[in-house]
Amino acid sequence: MKYLVLGNPIAHSKSPQIHLAFAAQFGLENFTYERCLVPLDGFVAAVADFAASGVHGANITVPFKEEAFHMCTALTERAAAAGAVNTLKVNPDGSWLGDNTDGAGLVSDLLRYGPLKGKRILVLGAGGAAAGVLQPLLAEQPASLSIANRTPERANALAQRFTGGALQIHASAFAAIEGVFDVLINATSASLSGQALALPAGMFADGALAYDMMYGKGETPFLADARLAGAAQCVDGLGMLVGQAAEAFYLWTGLRPDVLPVLNSMRAEL
Ligand code: ATR
Repeated sequence: MKYLVLGNPIAHSKSPQIHLAFAAQFGLENFTYERCLVPLDGFVAAVADFAASGVHGANITVPFKEEAFHMCTALTERAAAAGAVNTLKVNPDGSWLGDNTDGAGLVSDLLRYGPLKGKRILVLGAGGAAAGVLQPLLAEQPASLSIANRTPERANALAQRFTGGALQIHASAFAAIEGVFDVLINATSASLSGQALALPAGMFADGALAYDMMYGKGETPFLADARLAGAAQCVDGLGMLVGQAAEAFYLWTGLRPDVLPVLNSMRAEL
């Protein structure tokens, strides 16, 4: 069983470590998983080469998730909703099924801290990371789902893609965020560059959970601000990373790995 992660850059990807740990849980000795640096203009050619070389599946990371979405012959419902693919599975006829496990990874990690049903959820950001998680969050039947973005037009456009369901997503600029929230998720890339977000005061309900999709050695600026603003729990995105990998592993193998021991050992290594 041969799997890859394709991206650019890729050297720091933790996916091989995670998937090999999952494979070890089931004693899958012939499971291989490697990093592949793909040229920025060479994604489609690289995938064709890998398919010909007998690869069974691949994870797709920055900046190729949208290109992968357009390349797939079939998509899961959640990948179609996300407009992006982070997991490819080779079908028996050699075609590719595209899935997006990012939202499921986030939801599974959030559920470790409590149910989402009936909660007021706010997602900050309106790029690919935000788009990938909205449908799985809606499926948890929150009381409300809001998105806010530095550029409000992007938040509006994203919310418009999810009309017609039981719950309408509310979109706004950061400064126009109204109300308090039980779960606040940073899906912007601001933490990558160590930048704080210009957010209004008073957004955290009693017992609120602040979640940053980023992870790393220290506390992100968003989580530091959230702690000072009274968030009861502040969580980084390491669990989402391991959770999305677990969903991909399940798609490929039909086996559900135990996330917690892998998450704990990765946490210890940060
Ligand atoms: P990704 O795929 O990681 O979501 P993206 O599509 O480039 O990447 O989107 C980046 C997101 O982070 C956007 O919501 C962006 O806000 P804008 O739409 O206004 O650009 C947000 N972002 C990045 N840096 C930010 C910052 N310093 N402050 C606020 N938002 C920021």
